[in-house]
Amino acid sequence: MQTIFDTIKKVAIKIDYAIKTEDLGYSDSSNSSGEEQLKLDVKSDYIIEEAFKDVAIVKALVSEEKEGVLALNPKGKYTVCYDPLDGSSLADVNLSVGSIFGIYEGELIGENLVASAYVVYGPRVELVIATKDSKPQHYRANGDLFNFISEITLDEKGKLNAPGGTQQNWSDYHKTFIDSLFQEGYRLRYSGGMVPDLHQILLKGGGIFSYPGTSDKPQGKLRQLFEVIPFAFIYEQAGGQAVNHEGLPLTRLIPSHPHDTSSCFFGSNYEINAMKSAYGIKS
Ligand code: AHG
Ligand code: MN
Ligand code: MN
Repeated sequence: MQTIFDTIKKVAIKIDYAIKTEDLGYSDSSNSSGEEQLKLDVKSDYIIEEAFKDVAIVKALVSEEKEGVLALNPKGKYTVCYDPLDGSSLADVNLSVGSIFGIYEGELIGENLVASAYVVYGPRVELVIATKDSKPQHYRANGDLFNFISEITLDEKGKLNAPGGTQQNWSDYHKTFIDSLFQEGYRLRYSGGMVPDLHQILLKGGGIFSYPGTSDKPQGKLRQLFEVIPFAFIYEQAGGQAVNHEGLPLTRLIPSHPHDTSSCFFGSNYEINAMKSAYGIKS
């Protein structure tokens, strides 16, 4: 497993360099979710694929930017599911973007996720890694090396509210719930990149990030295997919760297709319990 984390560190440095130096325009192709690919999406995907080809314990790759499962090493034990560059359309306005990795052993279902990691490319490059038996570990790049900073623990209740999706397309009960948080004094923190938005909530003690099913996207926007489940695992390991609109822990999702999406709510305990009661879910 350490080889996988070392590979993630290596690709993070290369992707950061690509973000800083390469063309930010569109490519002439789109991905499986029908989104136009930026040249940087394609480049980041290529960097990751090339790096994992040589990692014998990796059996296959699943990428936001690839249609199906890419078989690598038949004797490998793990499948790495990744979003090479999340929030890539924010790069040209110089906001933070990220990479997300879910490492699965066996069938690609939430319960088989054994570790996850994400990288934030912001004013600094940071990395968070979570495994089953510890709190998420927070690192910061210095040159090519990642220095350990601290473990991440969420408080019981936070102050930040990151509500995703187009408000016009929210359900009335979701709107009421989001308003109720603002009435309680929560502060709006939403950049449009789930990696920096979720990272901020983790490091500032807590709050909630939501991306519900909406009238235009009833199953939500964010993809289960490489966006939702990896972050859900990190939130749980940090002492918080991550659920869908029915209160199901996102770490128990069973995708039927690599690009399936889900409604999602990530947060500290107080806010997720408040969401469950606003959505009429019994805890
Ligand atoms: P990607 O760039 O990989 O397609 O993902 C962007 C995602 C996520 O980072 C963010 O939270 C969400 O899209 C923002 O969507 P809205 O603009 O609909 O809020
Ligand atoms: Mn994404
Ligand atoms: Mn992406």
